[in-house]
Amino acid sequence: MNAIIEFKNVTKEYVTGKHVLKAVNKLNFEINEGEFVVILGPSGSGKSTLLNLLGGLDSVSSGDIIINNKNIANFNDNELTKFRANEVGFIFQFYNLIPSLTVYENIDLISELIDDDIDVDYALNQVGLLDHSNQFPSELSGGEQQRVSIARAVIKKPTLLLCDEPTGALDSKTGYNVIKILHDLSLVNNTTVVVVTHNEKIAEIANKIIYLNDGIIEDVKIIDNPKTPEEVDWKF
Ligand SMILES: Nc1ncnc2c1ncn2[C@@H]1O[C@H](COP(=O)(O)OP(=O)(O)O)[C@@H](O)[C@H]1O
Ligand SMILES: [Mg+2]
Repeated sequence: MNAIIEFKNVTKEYVTGKHVLKAVNKLNFEINEGEFVVILGPSGSGKSTLLNLLGGLDSVSSGDIIINNKNIANFNDNELTKFRANEVGFIFQFYNLIPSLTVYENIDLISELIDDDIDVDYALNQVGLLDHSNQFPSELSGGEQQRVSIARAVIKKPTLLLCDEPTGALDSKTGYNVIKILHDLSLVNNTTVVVVTHNEKIAEIANKIIYLNDGIIEDVKIIDNPKTPEEVDWKF
């Protein structure tokens, strides 16, 4: 397998007044193409910082982030914007849909940002929401809104699908459906998926688990034969 992502000594500092906080400190790890990776760690351990650096939403204080043989730590703003638009799909805890646009329009919006043509109906079908095209976000359940945000993320066929606590606002049954869709997409499209969570159940389906604590990687576990979502005892 090819490592498509490599973090080399990645540090991110936040300076407030005289205080310097290392949100992540000398991170080193690799992610292979098509892997389903889970980042586990308590609140404040640096999970979102790691994900935002990986997705080019934030810049490193030091270190290198190699993605597809390019060091995005050296990218200027223009290059980063292009990278985010074309290569990265983001999924957040609170969906970030535009309330005044329909489901279809929320996804179609992406076509203005990227170079490839997109097929909104294909993406909606992948998340089982073809029948909801003309509804507004407020008319959908939380789980359905998250599925719209997944469709919006995958429509650009991203190299990387980055998910920050994607089930954090959902009950466990609905969360399972969302995780199952993410897992299916990683298999069907061979998309590399990175999920940040503090739910250890989700880690049971990962090919790789990165344990973060206090901004430091405590352990990286590689699982050769992870469970399928159906095999996990989600306890709902
Ligand atoms: N913009 C910021 N300014 C200052 N400190 C920040 C900022 N973002 C995050 N931090 C700090 O960095 C640490 C890691 O935060 P974060 O990556 O959000 O953790 P997690 O996602 O694991 O909860 C925390 O101590 C947090 O307070
Ligand atoms: Mg976070």
